[in-house]
Amino acid sequence: MTQFKRVASLADIPPGTMLKVYLGHRAVAIYNVDGELFATTDNCTHETASLSEGTLNGHEVTCPKHNARFDVRTGKALCFPAVVGLKRYSVRVEDDDVFIGPPA
Ligand code: FES
Repeated sequence: MTQFKRVASLADIPPGTMLKVYLGHRAVAIYNVDGELFATTDNCTHETASLSEGTLNGHEVTCPKHNARFDVRTGKALCFPAVVGLKRYSVRVEDDDVFIGPPA
């Protein structure tokens, strides 16, 4: 059976914001895009940088270090210098609780 872990309250991630949480030792970024939640690895695939410390514009997150952009819905890298996409995670919301599951 697939294991989901509670990582946050929905109130912690208002629409248009993102939040870094931990799934074991792995940092995961959760994004709230107009009320719909998505989750990816928090670390940029270019170098070491926390995407949740970047900016979220619609469904695109911009890395704070060299401005690579990723589509948080698919994990796809949208521009140089990132060429590798982000791993996505399953997200589930029950009442006010946000759960992260295994890679999607
Ligand atoms: S570390 Fe993210 S674009 Fe370079």
